[in-house]
Amino acid sequence: MKIMVIGSSGQLGADIVEALPRAGFQALPVTGRQELDITNTVAFASFLDQQRPDAVINTAAFHNVDLCEREFDSAYRVNTIAVRGLAVECQKRGILLFQIGTDYVMDGPVDSKPLPETAPVHPKSIYALTRFGGDCMTLTHAPAVGYVVRTCGLFGMAGCKLKGGLNFVDTMITVARAGKPMRVVADQIVAPTPTDELAQQLILMIQRRPGPGLYHAVSHGQCSWHEFACAALTLAGIDHPIAPVSSGEFAAPAHRPGYSVLDNAVLRHAGIDIMTDWRTGLQRYIGKKYPPKR
Ligand SMILES: NC(=O)c1ccc[n+]([C@@H]2O[C@H](COP(=O)([O-])OP(=O)(O)OC[C@H]3O[C@@H](n4cnc5c(N)ncnc54)[C@H](OP(=O)(O)O)[C@@H]3O)[C@@H](O)[C@H]2O)c1
Repeated sequence: MKIMVIGSSGQLGADIVEALPRAGFQALPVTGRQELDITNTVAFASFLDQQRPDAVINTAAFHNVDLCEREFDSAYRVNTIAVRGLAVECQKRGILLFQIGTDYVMDGPVDSKPLPETAPVHPKSIYALTRFGGDCMTLTHAPAVGYVVRTCGLFGMAGCKLKGGLNFVDTMITVARAGKPMRVVADQIVAPTPTDELAQQLILMIQRRPGPGLYHAVSHGQCSWHEFACAALTLAGIDHPIAPVSSGEFAAPAHRPGYSVLDNAVLRHAGIDIMTDWRTGLQRYIGKKYPPKR
């Protein structure tokens, strides 16, 4: 099977492309906008006709959460309308579509339990609204082939392209090593997810085909960003204080959910939830990218 990976220069895309051949699949990487902009549906359709992939994994998004508040049109074009194009063209050709979504469409109270696919969405930012639009477009326009896979707090070896190649863990370690004062929010609860594991989960979904629809795929367990940052520094052997702060103290332009831990209920019921606890993924990541100095 030939699998097209849109956004292969990003952290999730890079790990998927690396893992596909090991599972016996042929990877068809599309690095990013320069090669094929997903907002150009005509170009996407002709790419499908030339390359004839069996499945498309779309990791591309306009996911600068704060910038989306100022650039609604761009956010809507990339996160909702472009995804409609992907869904329509994949459905027409019977090509599987895996649309990566986000936990930010949810927003439960801080003392919630992990939120399954049936939980109501509460998109409270332009980013969340436009990403929910992408979820709906996939489910509506690709009913026979479309999988929406919502995830959370990604960290992978390639680093987040949008954030200049640094993900949250990298940023924490960089700032701590520079000895700068650190403040991290303690009232947003998440399930940080390693991209190498998510790549394996996606590959298993392609192999097992549990059926089109909505899926949550995040690490097990939960933590605040503050707890996550402290765990990263401890594992990296860095002794540096991090002050816990509230979201209100940061006053970011876009709203962030207080609780957006997802429950992988559909994967679990299908017997194919292979995600592990976030601490396991973090330990593996730190061991690989920031091994202790001898
Ligand atoms: N990072 C997180 O913490 C997090 C949390 C929850 C969900 N997610 C979702 O997971 C997915 C992958 O995230 P990531 O962290 O791997 O992102 P990333 O590292 O920023 O990579 C995004 C990739 O998409 C490409 N891209 C962006 N706009 C494009 C467009 N219009 N057309 C074609 N390609 C485009 C980028 O390349 P160019 O810049 O060269 O175009 C890049 O290769 C996204 O949907 C993201 O919203 C991420």
